[in-house]
Amino acid sequence: MTAPGPVEITDLVRGWLPDGGREPIRRDDVVGALLERGQRRGARIAAALPASDDGLLDLAVVDALVLRVHAELQRFTEELSQGRRTAARLRPLLDGLGPGPVRVVDVGCGLGHVIRWLAATGALGPDVELVGIDLDRTLVASAAALAAEEDLPCRFLAADAFAPDGVITDPDRTVVISSGLLHHLRGDDLADFFAAQTRLGVAAFVHWDPVPGPWPVLGAWVFHRARMREPLSRHDGLLSVRRSHRAPELLAAARHPDYDVTCTDPRRALTTQVVRPVAGVRR
Ligand SMILES: C[S@@+](CC[C@H](N)C(=O)[O-])C[C@H]1O[C@@H](n2cnc3c(N)ncnc32)[C@H](O)[C@@H]1O
Repeated sequence: MTAPGPVEITDLVRGWLPDGGREPIRRDDVVGALLERGQRRGARIAAALPASDDGLLDLAVVDALVLRVHAELQRFTEELSQGRRTAARLRPLLDGLGPGPVRVVDVGCGLGHVIRWLAATGALGPDVELVGIDLDRTLVASAAALAAEEDLPCRFLAADAFAPDGVITDPDRTVVISSGLLHHLRGDDLADFFAAQTRLGVAAFVHWDPVPGPWPVLGAWVFHRARMREPLSRHDGLLSVRRSHRAPELLAAARHPDYDVTCTDPRRALTTQVVRPVAGVRR
């Protein structure tokens, strides 16, 4: 039997119950899942997390760690100018929708850097409502607190990207975006993710993820050694690039008769491009 594919530690140590409460997580289960996949360094990182006498992870410590990891991720996102990049890609799409209010929803928004940047700069113009959603309630609360500190016109909600109906109420006037989420979605989840948006008939989607390939992996290794302090950031960050889907896989998952879908990997393997989107526009 082949070992299951590698997994990020953050995907193993976070669990939310349907009522919004926390799912208790056994440290041995996390360590076992990583060892089963041959991720020995990841297993050492997980084994060092504090747990109670009965082996349950100390979730307050995990929360604080996840916030530090996402703060490092935000710095990376800032250095990549992901806000500016997103605005440049969205502006023509929003122009194409004509006058009137539009909602931009960032799914898997984490600390909400992109949405907060768009809100702070007004880069998309006045009639654009900015909403970030994430499964992780700790991140959502922090994103909302950061936005409130600067009195930014945007909001953040705990919601599942696979059930976005509550936040996509006017699909004709909604554009869905994400960054760094796609590689977390494996197997059928990838197609289900796009279907959750296309079945509602959103006007467009633009989902950014790392460029895959050996050179980007090498670049990510150097970058994470140089810029990330948390071992978990280094582990999960590098894995994000290693697990990133290639363009044909993304196109196959996102394809839909009502949408023009595009995604292009850089032509040359030796590329300096770090991220690229898969985008769909309703015909
Ligand atoms: C690598 S982080 C990227 C965060 C942020 N977009 C950024 O670029 O900094 C992936 C995020 O997706 C969220 N996520 C994963 N699955 C999700 C789902 N089904 N619905 C909503 N959020 C999800 C995670 O909680 C995490 O915050």
